[in-house]
Amino acid sequence: MNTIDRSPSPADPVIVAAGLSKTYPRGREQVRALDGIDFAVGRGEFVAVVGPSGSGKTTLLNLLGCMDTPTGGTLRLAGREISGLSETDRTLLRRRHLGFVFQHFGLVPTLTVAENVALPRLFARRAEDGRVGELLRQVGLWDRRDHRPHQLSGGEMQRAAIARALVNDPSLLLADEPTGNLDSATGESDIGLFRQLNAGGLTIVAVTHNAALSDAAGRRLHLRDGRLA
Ligand SMILES: Nc1ncnc2c1ncn2[C@@H]1O[C@H](COP(=O)(O)OP(=O)(O)O)[C@@H](O)[C@H]1O
Ligand SMILES: [Mg+2]
Repeated sequence: MNTIDRSPSPADPVIVAAGLSKTYPRGREQVRALDGIDFAVGRGEFVAVVGPSGSGKTTLLNLLGCMDTPTGGTLRLAGREISGLSETDRTLLRRRHLGFVFQHFGLVPTLTVAENVALPRLFARRAEDGRVGELLRQVGLWDRRDHRPHQLSGGEMQRAAIARALVNDPSLLLADEPTGNLDSATGESDIGLFRQLNAGGLTIVAVTHNAALSDAAGRRLHLRDGRLA
């Protein structure tokens, strides 16, 4: 695949952004964190978002994750224009279609690994039908299922977070610097997991500074000053 950004219109897009913008107020000024970007991500793609600090990567991921709303342009996720949705509908879309992985893992320290992975299923009021166990095996944490996060290594914590992100079978996995807190060897094994998940058909968008992770992606979106380079 090419490494130049803006895909042509994919046949089965999970994301379509047109003129997507986000402006934040800063005192009396406006910061243009995203300045009218156009791109699409097709089902089954693995896209890395790269760019210097302050270029708008996290802002973009927050918009894709429906955790924030654009101030301009349009964004379609899984076939739905998100700017018209109510807060409740955005929450439902997030629950049904999106999985999140963060740099700091975000596991609940008082819950076991298995309970952490099961949590989004509880929120979505879906019965636990064996999916948790299946994912724990897939990420290599079955033997660790009754441990608490502090008993795990960084790489294991991130794999637990990845399993949790997948428990509701999202259409799209979003990751913000998923290897940012891992040493390079551990990062490599988690990159292998992203690769494997993508080979299984999962659509992934990952913000990263890690060359190995962006190499694993099929395509890169380069952000600079809120624009696609
Ligand atoms: N909540 C916010 N309020 C004001 N400015 C923000 C906010 N979030 C981000 N910014 C600004 O928007 C720009 C892009 O930030 P960000 O998306 O975090 O970049 P990156 O993740 O690439 O480092 C930066 O100039 C940053 O200071
Ligand atoms: Mg960031």
